[in-house]
Amino acid sequence: MAGLVPNARSRRIEESATLAITAKAAKLKAAGRDVVSLGAGEPDFVTPAPIAASGIRAIEQGNTRYTAAPGVPELRAAGAKWLNTTFGLGYAADEVMVCAGAKGALHMALDAIVEPGQKVLILAPYWVSYPALVTMADGVPVIVPAAIDRGFIHDAATIDAAAKQHKAAGIIVNYPNNPSGAVPSRADVQALVDVAKANDLWLLSDEIYATLLYDGATHVSPAALPGGRERTIVVNGFTKSHTLTGWRTSFLAGPRPVIDAACRIQSQVLGNPCTISQAATLTACELPLPDEQTRRMSAFEERRRYLVTEINKIPGMRLTAPRGAFYALVDVREIGRKKGLDDVQICERLLDEHLLAAVPGSAFAIPGFLRLSYAAAMDLLQKAVARLRAFAESK
Ligand SMILES: Cc1ncc(COP(=O)(O)O)c(C=O)c1O
Repeated sequence: MAGLVPNARSRRIEESATLAITAKAAKLKAAGRDVVSLGAGEPDFVTPAPIAASGIRAIEQGNTRYTAAPGVPELRAAGAKWLNTTFGLGYAADEVMVCAGAKGALHMALDAIVEPGQKVLILAPYWVSYPALVTMADGVPVIVPAAIDRGFIHDAATIDAAAKQHKAAGIIVNYPNNPSGAVPSRADVQALVDVAKANDLWLLSDEIYATLLYDGATHVSPAALPGGRERTIVVNGFTKSHTLTGWRTSFLAGPRPVIDAACRIQSQVLGNPCTISQAATLTACELPLPDEQTRRMSAFEERRRYLVTEINKIPGMRLTAPRGAFYALVDVREIGRKKGLDDVQICERLLDEHLLAAVPGSAFAIPGFLRLSYAAAMDLLQKAVARLRAFAESK
């Protein structure tokens, strides 16, 4: 044997671009360089103490054994209650399962619903893992180009045309959107549901940023609208809002047959989501922590305002205020044209010459843009703006 060779499917899976940039920035940092890393989408706050304490208590009390594959019944019930009361949904406990992070939930959902060779529409700009997750489920990702002039909200006619052209089986949507921060109106979400219904598409709705909203925006889940519930699978949880990033829990909610199938798959590939993390997540469901949420949102809001004001002063760069999540999607098309650089080359120059890690828009199918995460302290954002300006003014 000439050595082990990974199979064709795994060879089609690329490393996550955001993790790759973050790793390169970490390497420079380890070598003693003063790198500002705004690549990763991880809040700079710690997990709230009462939630962490529940995890510690679980360990101390020996609550550390296997659980049922879809999570403990109390957490499935609490997850359903949280989804129903926060977002106007109507799930029973057995229509909700606990997964290992939103990523795990998306994986289980796609494995449960995609037939081999089926086309799945992904609206650009999209979170980097969707195409790979569809490919791993033996589906075929079809990217619908970004609707830049509509504030990154696609009109129904575009989605309808793409669904018909590709004979798509389903669509993945993500609002509030990573990387654009777009939040659609209720009418836009209803139009999406109507198109899905007209083309008999399932909708996988990644709502992991649903409580991180600005300027009075409201989050509307397609599952809350007429015609939406029966064709929508919802992914939500506390990863981003409560810094449960390392705990690896989330909720997957949807019609029973799909959730049952996802539970069977999870029972075979994962067993159960971490027992200790389930105990912590139960506290996150039951304890609203309004002061903590206000503190976080006002920090994000201050950073968002700062970036919008300062980046729009840099010649050749533009930033439309995001309405949700914690990303700034900076339009660098003009400065790129002036300097003869594309977004990937701009990000390389920013990291190599100005020690600023940002993710090129190409990673999200939005070339000509770059993404900065403002889940980072103000002093880092100030340095980042100074470095963007230095890049803009450089030869
Ligand atoms: C849109 C979106 N979905 C899912 C995830 C993954 O979240 P989790 O850490 O809960 O797996 C991320 C993380 O960046 C994300 O931005």
